[in-house]
Amino acid sequence: MDKLLELLDIQYPIIQAPVGGIATPALAASVSDSGAFGGLALSWSTPEDAENKIGQVRALTSRPVYANFVLNFEPKALKRTLELGIPVIQFSWGMPSPEMIHLIRSYQAKMGIQVTDKESALRAISLGADYLVCQGWQAGGHVQASTSLQKALKEVLQASKHALPVLASGGISSGKDMKTYMNLGASGVVMGSRFVASNESGAHALYKETLVASGSEDTVLTVCMNKGWGSTFHRIIKNSTFKMWETEGCPIIGNRPGELDVIGKNPKGIDIERYSISAPTVGVTGDIEAMTCYAGTGLDNITEIKPASVIVEEIWNEYIGD
Ligand SMILES: Cc1cc2nc3c(=O)[nH]c(=O)nc-3n(C[C@H](O)[C@H](O)[C@H](O)COP(=O)(O)O)c2cc1C
Repeated sequence: MDKLLELLDIQYPIIQAPVGGIATPALAASVSDSGAFGGLALSWSTPEDAENKIGQVRALTSRPVYANFVLNFEPKALKRTLELGIPVIQFSWGMPSPEMIHLIRSYQAKMGIQVTDKESALRAISLGADYLVCQGWQAGGHVQASTSLQKALKEVLQASKHALPVLASGGISSGKDMKTYMNLGASGVVMGSRFVASNESGAHALYKETLVASGSEDTVLTVCMNKGWGSTFHRIIKNSTFKMWETEGCPIIGNRPGELDVIGKNPKGIDIERYSISAPTVGVTGDIEAMTCYAGTGLDNITEIKPASVIVEEIWNEYIGD
């Protein structure tokens, strides 16, 4: 744990997951300001968008934040992000190219890579990762993992031989969960859904309310909501779109019920179609319930929307308590 705190220049080994557009500058800044580690998800950002978001974070905190890039998409804003002094880059869904690694190192930035088993851990270590994020299939959002966090973590820790910090990610939402994975050897934990249910997150109010009202059993790992990102697995809260699709026998693309329905508009006025990967954010209008609300299996512990700083404090106190 100490190695991680020093590496990332943080006080608590609690990392806010890169939760797409829901990771607002206010959320990242608030988490980092609390002594944990906040992050921006810049996979779909242009260099200008990234500059704008990083500027907003800087106006709110002087503490470090990281930037995430999902490597299924071209990291258009990576260079600008580094130029603007973001000290840590965290990749998921792929391994960085030699050019990306060279760029990161030329700015003396640190590099984290999300892995899911022994082989991906060894590959990330061979590329010089400074830390690993081990994701299990309990995770909310897009799920790279094909096994449980318990099993994946064991494999990844063995592969790492404790030479670098390994963070546990997926379904973690309490200090008790944190203790479980820290006892297994993790150096820290990553939480996505728990922070989506915070005051500062960019999730639509109805999405936040659904997180609070739902339990772990209400989530499902599926390929249902894939308009915008291939046939990747993702964990969501079961909604009317999912139930309609399941009732029809989970048909393939082209045969799905209501496939051409426009169910809302994003804040820029652009149509949101049924089965879109876009989660409802503040400013989205339409049938919010039918949209994709990502969530991990830790929902039973999410009972209230709170400031991110309170979430960090509660998790830490619960972790260090009896
Ligand atoms: C709303 C939402 C959006 C997400 N977006 C991203 C993303 O942009 N990049 C990424 O690497 N992971 C993303 N994830 C997955 C998280 O990195 C992490 O694996 C997950 O939140 C951990 O599970 P938990 O939600 O149960 O804490 C997202 C998760 C959620 C809930």
